[in-house]
Amino acid sequence: MKFCPEEKFSRRDCGSCGTCAGVCTSHAIEMCNGYPIFNSRLCIGCGHCGVFCPENAFGMEPLPGNAATEQQYRSLLETRRSIRFYSDIVPSEGEISTLISVISQSPTGMNLQGITVRVVQGSDAVGRLVKPVRKMLKILSFTGLLHIIGKITGMSDHIGRLRGGEDMIFRGAPVVLFFHVPRKNVTGYTDGVIAATAVMYHAVSMGMGTLWNGVAEKLYPFTGAWHTPRTRGTKLTAVLCVGYTDLEPKWKAPARNYNIL
Ligand SMILES: Cc1cc2nc3c(=O)[nH]c(=O)nc-3n(C[C@H](O)[C@H](O)[C@H](O)COP(=O)(O)O)c2cc1C
Repeated sequence: MKFCPEEKFSRRDCGSCGTCAGVCTSHAIEMCNGYPIFNSRLCIGCGHCGVFCPENAFGMEPLPGNAATEQQYRSLLETRRSIRFYSDIVPSEGEISTLISVISQSPTGMNLQGITVRVVQGSDAVGRLVKPVRKMLKILSFTGLLHIIGKITGMSDHIGRLRGGEDMIFRGAPVVLFFHVPRKNVTGYTDGVIAATAVMYHAVSMGMGTLWNGVAEKLYPFTGAWHTPRTRGTKLTAVLCVGYTDLEPKWKAPARNYNIL
C-alpha cells in the first residue's frame, strides 16, 4: 500500500522544523503556521518526509543501523559469478520469495513501483520453456532463415547444439525469473534492471548464484508460449536464471575495463 504522509503525520510529535517540506521531491508539502500541509495529488508516496524527520512525527520504523562496509560490499561484488552449472538442490518457494523480497527496497522512477516477477520453478517447468524455441528454430530452418540468423549473430554453434537437444538457453537452471514492468512507465525498463540487479546480489548473500539471460530476453517477443495473460500490458526487462551452484569460483575474475571522463 502506498505510503500516505497525511495519514501517518502526528501534530503532537512535530517539531515544526520544516525538514519534511524541504526534502519532498514533488513539492507536495508546504509549511503553514508551523505545521506541514500535504497535497495528496502531488505526493508520490516515497516516504522521504518521514525518513528525514528528526522527531519521527510520521511514525517510521527504526533503521537496522548496520549498513555494509565498503569491504563487505566489494567482497559481495567480487564473489558474484554468472553460473552455468547448478547443483541438484532446487531453491524452495520460501527461498525464492525471500530472494525476490529485496525489490521492496528498489527505487523506481517517480516511485511508481509496478514490478512483477514471474517465477518459473523446477527443471520440468524450465525445460518446457525450451520447447517452443526448438519449434521456432525448426520452422526457421525450413525457410533457410536460421542459417542467416546464425551467421549474423555468430551463434550458429549454439543454435546447432540447441537443436541437438542441449538447453543452451537456461542451461539446466532450476529457477528462472522474468522481470516485468508496466509498459507505460517512462523509467520502466531501468526500474526492472535495477530490481533484477538487487536480486542478483541478494542471491550471492543467500549462497545462490544467477545467470543474467540476454538470450531469453531477446527471444521473449517471438516466444508467445512464454507469455501469460497476467503480464499483459507489461514489458520484459530482465531474465535471471537462479540456483545453487555446482561449481564454486576459485579465484577472482580479471578486472573489467571502464571509462571515466
Ligand atoms: C545483460 C547480460 C546478458 C547476458 N546473457 C547471457 C546469456 O544469454 N547466456 C549466458 O550464458 N550468459 C549471459 N550473460 C552472462 C555473461 O556471459 C557473463 O556475465 C560473463 O561470462 C562474465 O562472467 P561473470 O558474470 O561471472 O562476471 C549475460 C550477462 C549480462 C550482463
